[in-house]
Amino acid sequence: MKAIAVNPGKPGVFFVERDEPRLQSPDDIKVKILDVGICGTDREEANGGRSLTAPDQKDLVIGHEMFGVVQETGKDVTQVRAGDYIAFTVRRGCGHCDACTMGRPDMCTSGGYTERGIWGRDGYQTEFVVDKEDYCVPIPPEVRDIGVLAEPLSVAEKAIDESVLVQKSRLPYVRDASGVLAGRNILIAGIGPIGLLAGFILRLRGAKVYGLDVVDEDSPRARVLSDIGGTYVDGKKVKVDDIQKTYGSMDMIFEATGVTSLEFNLLDALGINGLYVLTGIPGGERPLQVQGPDIIRRLVLNNQVMIGSVNAGKTHYRMAVADLMKFRQAYGSAIDRVITQRIPCDKVQDAFMHNTAEEIKTVIQWG
Ligand code: BGC
Repeated sequence: MKAIAVNPGKPGVFFVERDEPRLQSPDDIKVKILDVGICGTDREEANGGRSLTAPDQKDLVIGHEMFGVVQETGKDVTQVRAGDYIAFTVRRGCGHCDACTMGRPDMCTSGGYTERGIWGRDGYQTEFVVDKEDYCVPIPPEVRDIGVLAEPLSVAEKAIDESVLVQKSRLPYVRDASGVLAGRNILIAGIGPIGLLAGFILRLRGAKVYGLDVVDEDSPRARVLSDIGGTYVDGKKVKVDDIQKTYGSMDMIFEATGVTSLEFNLLDALGINGLYVLTGIPGGERPLQVQGPDIIRRLVLNNQVMIGSVNAGKTHYRMAVADLMKFRQAYGSAIDRVITQRIPCDKVQDAFMHNTAEEIKTVIQWG
């Protein structure tokens, strides 16, 4: 069968042949791939950045944001049957650390995990995949068209869930989890797919959402943000130093740019007791000088928290699937407009080579 691969460390994507996978154990599920999203990580891999082949392969099949339809199930599989829609999660645990043995490879403590399509394990940009029921998340047919957003949405869900848990446990004036977000000032830096999806979650939970980016005000990203009741902050016009003056101090910052200098500068906008969650992964090794003492002084004197968050547990995928349904109810077609192009798998080069400010999420269609 056909698959799309990279040579880790070298730029370019190309087609390879892989054997069609077969069920090997009673808890295996065989899935026909329908949609696979492309994100910054895929583009980084395609540009020769971070990625690793499986031990027995000389190239890596990419793709980790998948959505497909069950073809066949092993005899012990109970959650799904042929014809059901599902997503498989990305990370596979090391098998021995506390987090992985508890089913939370997203918090693996040994670093010995693999990630499908990214790190040491073939991914989903192909025709069929087989994996264990344990990694499968059922997706209702009502959200079939946007099921491919389950993975990026799960990443945003985890980052927000962790932030809420931390703030709830330390802020004496917050009574419950909903009080952490409802009515609060929240800045999202970078309204690409992860940032925008975070915006949907935060708006749904009642936050006042400001989305910072450098696209035009009438670009699809800014329009989707305003359609869900968020305020677009045009970084070409508003300086980071002025965010606080213009919109007030932020109770929380959700960072999704991976631009290190901006990540540090944004601390200026964070208010007292504020929480800053980082999800963007900077590519490359460009060094940066920061005002260390000033940053640490402010973190301490203002009781601020900084959290890094990556990947997601199955609970976060389930939250994501439930929220996809709610986004449709609350904001109509806004969530559908996060997918700005669908490209047939044989035109994959176009998908990787042309990304414009008009793009939010590009999806490769295998179905
Ligand atoms: C993926 C995560 C993954 C991370 C690090 C992100 O693009 O969405 O699932 O853990 O990259 O490899």
